[in-house]
Amino acid sequence: MSVKISPSILSADFAKLGEEVRAVDAAGADYIHIDVMDGHFVPNITIGPDVVKALRPHSDKPFDTHLMIAPADPYLEAFANAGSDIITIHPESGPHLHRSLQTIKALGKKAGVSLNPHTGTDVLDHVMDLVDLVLVMTVNPGFGGQSFLPLIDKVKEVRRKIDATGRDIDLEIDGGVNPETSKLVREAGANVLVAGTATFKGGPDKYAENIKAIRGE
Ligand code: DX5
Ligand code: ZN
Repeated sequence: MSVKISPSILSADFAKLGEEVRAVDAAGADYIHIDVMDGHFVPNITIGPDVVKALRPHSDKPFDTHLMIAPADPYLEAFANAGSDIITIHPESGPHLHRSLQTIKALGKKAGVSLNPHTGTDVLDHVMDLVDLVLVMTVNPGFGGQSFLPLIDKVKEVRRKIDATGRDIDLEIDGGVNPETSKLVREAGANVLVAGTATFKGGPDKYAENIKAIRGE
């Protein structure tokens, strides 16, 4: 299975974000991962829809927007209009996961469900027909640069659920992905890998080499 790399711009230089997005795009990124944090659902504050909109002209790659905000519902339209292609939400961010996913689909976007390390995969069971991407968090959300939690059985469990649908649903891993942990999650069935620290380390001259290494090439 070919693996896609979604660099998290959380680890980019925020003072030159457009340039950083162009650089990872040119270096072989498949998606651009945008971590949205509200200082409430997670203990950090990052990017809003205006920043997503400003970045949109800098890449044609799908914008993979990871919402770590609660509530998420009031902001889905803003992130869709800003140019997100995939909008991923956490089930804990609102009372009606099914309705939130319906809203994302009605906005014409791909819908993702993100599972915190403690969140069971059963939350997927009755919404799978609305899901285009399942994100398995391998750190607790909030910060880049944390150590990988080896939730390999969970990744395999999600892979089985995806395969049972017969649909083309992305299985994305987020947190502590580097060339070593990449191998473990690829073998467990992941096909999209988010990588912040491992992509951006060493500066722009290293991005292509870093992305290749994470991809396992
Ligand atoms: C964590 C974010 C991740 C994070 C990954 O809350 O969702 O996308 O930026 O960073 P690394 O790859 O450094 O673990
Ligand atoms: Zn993320």
